Amino acid sequence: MTKYIVQGGSPLFGEVHISGAKNAAVAILPAALLVDGVCRIENIPQISDVTVLLKILEQLGAKVRVLNRSDVELDCRHIITTRAPQELAHKLRASYYLIGALLGRFGEAEVSMPGGCNFGGTRPIDQHVKGFAAMGATVREGDYICAAAEGGRMKGANIYLDVVSVGATMNIMMAAALADGTTVIENAAKEPHIVDLANFLNSMGADIKGAGTDTIRVAGVERLHGGAYAIIPDQIEAGTYMAAVAATGGQIRVRGIIPKHMDCITAKLQEMGVEVEEQDDDLIVRRSGELRHANVKTLPYPGFPTDMQPQITTVLTLASGTSTVTEGVWDSRYRYVGELTRMGAQIRVEGRTAIVEGVERLSPANIQAYDLRAGAAMLIAALAADGVSEITNVQYIERGYEDIIGKLRALGAKIDCVEENDEPPIRQIG
Ligand code: EPZ
Repeated sequence: MTKYIVQGGSPLFGEVHISGAKNAAVAILPAALLVDGVCRIENIPQISDVTVLLKILEQLGAKVRVLNRSDVELDCRHIITTRAPQELAHKLRASYYLIGALLGRFGEAEVSMPGGCNFGGTRPIDQHVKGFAAMGATVREGDYICAAAEGGRMKGANIYLDVVSVGATMNIMMAAALADGTTVIENAAKEPHIVDLANFLNSMGADIKGAGTDTIRVAGVERLHGGAYAIIPDQIEAGTYMAAVAATGGQIRVRGIIPKHMDCITAKLQEMGVEVEEQDDDLIVRRSGELRHANVKTLPYPGFPTDMQPQITTVLTLASGTSTVTEGVWDSRYRYVGELTRMGAQIRVEGRTAIVEGVERLSPANIQAYDLRAGAAMLIAALAADGVSEITNVQYIERGYEDIIGKLRALGAKIDCVEENDEPPIRQIG
């Protein structure tokens, strides 16, 4: 297993190019199953979740042609099975999108229960099932989720989500794209990646209106044709680098973002004393003075994103005064707090709220990544701590951040990757 050796205590300077959005890519790739043609999908992040999804698509019979580092061509005209292999599907949460796509195209699907980050809370899929059932599918849950549309084709329906769910919104949208009739999703999620999926499907001939609002209307069409589509930049990846320089100090240019998507993160960091300046589709992020305490509540978009919660909490451990962070999306998402307190952070968790007393500095320690975003937060903490820290379980981080070590090194970070059972690193740090 790989671990990171991080020499922290120095400010970050330089430029970072943002990759395609993970949470858009892991929906758009399965959505290609709906297309009776060839899709060219561009700006796909090089992350292990994408690698696994492409392998699953190939096993279903899709022809996958990797064009270059970030572009692929998918031909789903000759799918041979609607049963996704368990050994792969179980590796990631997003495999549940295969259900909506296969149901939408073929009227049936068998996909193993999704895996993915377990950050301490439950991750139900009852809203997905509610949507599929409303559209005429019978769904059986066990080790596999087996779904079949009555009469072999999904039917348009009106669905009011009990919870604002990104996954359910995307999955129902996919199941509805080729349905007989119109589907209306109310209380829909509004994240940028929801809009990205709708734009992808519409560019292939779907008829989806209202994505980005809480009511999405999907008029089923007979067939989706091929085409080309480029995935949006990753709001959370960009926010993670902004949080890193907020914690370490310094100045970085975050390149290739959509400023509107960053508003909620930018506003909170500015409240904390971080300077953020928009320059076309880049942000200049600078922190030189003291960090100020703040209160954060994570909410569905356009609120402060839950996927930035571990990262912003880590920055707040260094802010003067008392801050609070309330998790408004997941039951709990604070497993990583123990790692920060071992570095000298003063945090106590009461229910869904973390109360953070700022400290002068964090001390280096041997810490572990509990999940994708907590792992990114560990990197931020280690970069801010004055000394050498080790981070294990880094495979979680590599699931969702393209070349994070290369990108951080380009900002001046001193990080070495070593195999756990290796001799001490031969290459110098940094
Ligand atoms: C997506 O997860 C993201 N994952 C998560 O990001 C992100 O935290 C989450 O949306 C919220 O933005 C992917 O896109 C692959 P939800 P998802 O359905 O779709 C409850 C990351 O770090 N709920 O929006 O699984 C659920 O328990 C990952 O990139 C139900 O009750 O999240 C939660 O409290 C981590 N029933 C809330 O809704 C359901 O059927 C939001 O969940 C579905 C969800």
